[in-house]
Amino acid sequence: MSAPEETVVVAGPVDGSSRKSIDSLIAGRYACREFSDRPVQRRTIEEILRTARFAPSGANIQPWCVYALAGASKQRVSAALLEAHRNARDEHVSEYKYYATELPPPYLNRRQEFGRLFYGSLGVAQTDGEARANQTAKNYIFFGAPVGLIITIDRRLETGSWLDLGMFVQNVMLAAAGRGLQSCPQETFAKYHRILRPLLSIPDEQMVVCGISIGCARQTTSARLMPRADIGEFASFAGFDE
Ligand SMILES: Cc1cc2nc3c(=O)[nH]c(=O)nc-3n(C[C@H](O)[C@H](O)[C@H](O)COP(=O)(O)O)c2cc1C
Repeated sequence: MSAPEETVVVAGPVDGSSRKSIDSLIAGRYACREFSDRPVQRRTIEEILRTARFAPSGANIQPWCVYALAGASKQRVSAALLEAHRNARDEHVSEYKYYATELPPPYLNRRQEFGRLFYGSLGVAQTDGEARANQTAKNYIFFGAPVGLIITIDRRLETGSWLDLGMFVQNVMLAAAGRGLQSCPQETFAKYHRILRPLLSIPDEQMVVCGISIGCARQTTSARLMPRADIGEFASFAGFDE
């Protein structure tokens, strides 16, 4: 069987006439886990962050903090995290809890579906711990992306500021998509804050929240894997004229 042809999504600003609508950018973003090594310039990342900073935040406190990594700096981080993932993963724990211990329905069902679809697409049995660990390891090389961001927040801030931060993270990913770049948000980095802190000189008051891989997608399969519940499952309407 011949290898599927690699399609590299072209980076660079789209011109006015072909500028994608915001709807198609939102719907076209997906968690990309296979990137081409095509470089992304610092200038492009600066543009993305300059756009993303227009995220709203309560009282405009702008609680985001970003460590942008490429080249040797990214490799140093990846090497340290891979080492920890291979040899000491049980010694590291995130400073915040991402998932509820007991997920109620419908979230539990959706998480189970995620597992089936995700590991199914990789040909990995969910019971195969080693294969799953190998897949998790790819997080730490930013899935081959040329740029990795580490996102932190001041631990003295409250839950509301995490809402603001989420909007900023989404803006980063959409601004990347608008430039033909894909991304993957990654909470897996939070676990290794003790390694990231000295490597990136992260001050004590900052908590590692997540990473974001950014680059050109290496598209060998169709992009979006994960379905969404239709609006009837999460929205209700009142008072609209038909
Ligand atoms: C805050 C956040 C953290 C995530 N962490 C990871 C991660 O550590 N590793 C990973 O492969 N995907 C991660 N994801 C991606 C989700 O699995 C993905 O967004 C979800 O399955 C929906 O798929 P889609 O984004 O392709 O539509 C994360 C997503 C979010 C929003």
